[in-house]
This record gives sequence, structure tokens and C-alpha cells, in this order.
Amino acid sequence: MIQAPKGTYDVLPEDVERRRVLTGHAERILGAAGYRRIETPAFESTELFARGVGEATDIVQKEMYSFDDGGGRSLTLRPEGTAPVCRAYIEHGMHKLPQPVKLWYLSSFFRAENPQKGRYRQFWQVGAEVIGSGSPETDAELIVLLAELLEAMGVRAARLRIASLGQPETRGAYREELTAYLRAHENELSAEVRARIDLNPMRAFDASDPGTQAVMANAPKLLDRLAPEDAEHFAQVRGLLNCADIAYELDPTLVRGLDYYTRTVFEFTSDALGAQSGVGGGGRYDRLIEQLGGQPTPGIGWAAGLERILLAAPELPVAADVVDLLVTVADRDSRDAFQAAFVVSREARRAGLAAQLELTGRSLKSALKHADRIQARYVAIVNDGEQTSLKDMSSGEQKELATGAVIAAILRGHSL
Ligand code: HAM
Repeated sequence: MIQAPKGTYDVLPEDVERRRVLTGHAERILGAAGYRRIETPAFESTELFARGVGEATDIVQKEMYSFDDGGGRSLTLRPEGTAPVCRAYIEHGMHKLPQPVKLWYLSSFFRAENPQKGRYRQFWQVGAEVIGSGSPETDAELIVLLAELLEAMGVRAARLRIASLGQPETRGAYREELTAYLRAHENELSAEVRARIDLNPMRAFDASDPGTQAVMANAPKLLDRLAPEDAEHFAQVRGLLNCADIAYELDPTLVRGLDYYTRTVFEFTSDALGAQSGVGGGGRYDRLIEQLGGQPTPGIGWAAGLERILLAAPELPVAADVVDLLVTVADRDSRDAFQAAFVVSREARRAGLAAQLELTGRSLKSALKHADRIQARYVAIVNDGEQTSLKDMSSGEQKELATGAVIAAILRGHSL
């Protein structure tokens, strides 16, 4: 048997309704705030992600599905949406539009990660990006919109953590300071942390052994090293979040897996999820547009994993499919009856009813059972072109009608 590739999954019809609820909320919440939907291609030139996301990131180093396009150019299935949206902003001259440009997307992305619950190789993100505004109100507005989306979806136990990464120069100097601090306390660190000091000193903040934790409690924090303008920007963002009654935790150790971030970064996690607790996150990327060849333009955005939102919101109310009418025949041997039933179902749909034709040749008894199962409101049992019995499934009442009068009777409602 041929199976779907590892880390991918099928969206079956019964899953589609929950996804549609999410799409509806995203359209409503982001649309009302003036965000317009964008779709970029599923693959891009590899260079876009190497330059945008960063050569040194796990995503670019290990997780990209890259391939040759047959003409010697390297293409990559998009692992994320920010670099493509920025590329589109530059390519379509969106800097000429009234700024900022506010966009959102709901698309699938691809990362060659080790699959587990909540982590897939093809997954979906709903994302929002604002390009052309550096104001702290933009940061706060985006965070509020994501909080609203998660709340509307009923995501349980969501926690927001925020930090500021300042500018790359500040980060470079801080990294050196932290590395020197770790070296000075090398003997107190776990072997694992010690081995990674130069590779990624920030990881020491996540260590679980008591020795390392004691050292890290007194380690210098990037938040205390921010340039005054960056610290001021961050203070304003926090002030706005307080105004909006959004609860958050300051997390000086929050690191995101993409290199383009400057200033504000944030992440929503849910304790209702297992190890993959990140529901959505994002941050500012004030240098990215320039890095990709555009004019210096500030930007900020977030993306949230659709699968993780649904995992963290299990009791999402989902409306059952509506079936107004099931059309079947009294006599399975009568071609005339089948033809008339075929016409009734088509006419019913043209009249705006959700009407299904019984397609398997079930006996009348099992057709009625099937109608129960799909919760059809009415069953039309066509005797021939002339006569039809219309059964109201909730009252059990049945009435004989001229076949041509069936639709009008349903449209009149429960007047059988
Ligand atoms: P990210 O943190 O890499 O950020 O991904 C955002 C969200 O996508 C995660 O919080 C998670 O819910 C979901 N996600 C990521 N990888 C997987 C996976 N393998 N399986 C299932 N879900 C996953 C970004 O992608 C940035 N582009 C966000 C952003 C937008 N920053 C600024 N603008």
C-alpha cells in the first residue's frame, strides 16, 4: 500500500469544517483591521530564504526541501511566509501604496523536521505582516489581533511571552559578553552546555540542570543591554499591551528560530499542547526588506500554526452539514422514477436547498436510515414522474404530492 509521506497528513472532509471556522475568524478579525489576503507561490528561489531567514538558522541548514528546477537554479518549498511576502512587496512596488501595507495569508509550508504531534513536514500557518510602519502601535496591534484570533478559536491555556532583541549590533556585542561570562563559569555548567558555548550561548538559558541554572540566574540579559531607542520602543509596546489588558510575561531569553528579527519578538504557547507548545509567534524585521534588495522599510508580523491551534482548541463548536432533502425512489426498477428523482434533486438545488440524490440504489428502508444518519430534514420518495411522497423526518409525517409540488412544499417550511 502506498502511504502519504512521513510528516504529512490528509485533510479529510470531517476535518475541513474546523479549518473553515479558523479561516472565517481570521477573515473577520484581520479583515476588520484592514488586512488584505495575499498568496505567494509554494516554492521560491532558495536564495530568498538563505538571505531572508538566515544561513545559520536550523531552517536553512537542515530543514529546507530544495531542488534543482532542471535549469541549474535552486528552488525551495517555502518553509515560512515572511520572506516571500517581503519579496512580493518589493517585486510589486508596494512601497508606492499608502503605507503601511497590511497583509495576511493562510498557506501551507514545508520543513524537513522530525515529525511528532503538532510538528509536521507540511503544515499550515495563518500569518499577518505589516510593512512600512515602525511604530510601537503596530507591534501592539498585531499582538492584540493574534490574541483575539486565539481567543475566538477557544485555544486553551494560552500564554504570551515577549522580549526585544534590539539591533543586530547590540546582539553581537551581547553574545560576546554572554560567551565570556559562560567561559568564566565553565566549571559550573553541564557538559552539554559547555560544548555549545560558542555555537549558541543563548541555549544555556534553557538548560535544566541546577548548576547551569544557578549560573544563568546571574547571567547578563540582552534586555538590559538594549540601545535607548530600542528600550523606549519596547516600553511603549508594553504600555499599549497593558492598555489593551493583554497579559504577558517578559522573557529575556526568548529566542526565535529566524535571523531577521529586530526589536520586539513574541510567542504564544499553550499548556494544552505537549512538547510542541508554540502556537504562534513573530516579531519585527526592520532590516529584512533592505536585505532583500528593497529600500530600508520597517516590518513586523506573526504566524500561527493551524494544526496547533486546532489541537489546543478541541471543543471548537462545529456546525453539522445541512441536508434539506434526500431524494430517493419507491421502485428501484423504474427508470422513470429515477429520472424524475434526478430532476427533483437538481431543481431543489437550483431553488437554494441542500439536496442529495440517493445514488447507490438502496432499498427504501435503508434510504430512510441513511436520511436519518445524514440528518436530512425531508425525504422525497418519487413514485413516478407524477407522484411523490414527502416525509418530514422530524415529525415523521408523510404526504402525497404531485412531484412538481415537492420543492414549493419544502420552501413553505413545515406546512406539510
Ligand atoms: P515560526 O515560529 O517558525 O515563525 O512558525 C510560526 C508557527 O508555525 C509556530 O508557532 C507553529 O505554530 C507553526 N509551525 C512551525 N513549524 C511547524 C511544523 N513543523 N509543524 C507544525 N506547525 C509548525 C515563522 O514562520 C515566522 N515567519 C513568523 C513571522 C511572521 N515572523 C514575522 N512575521
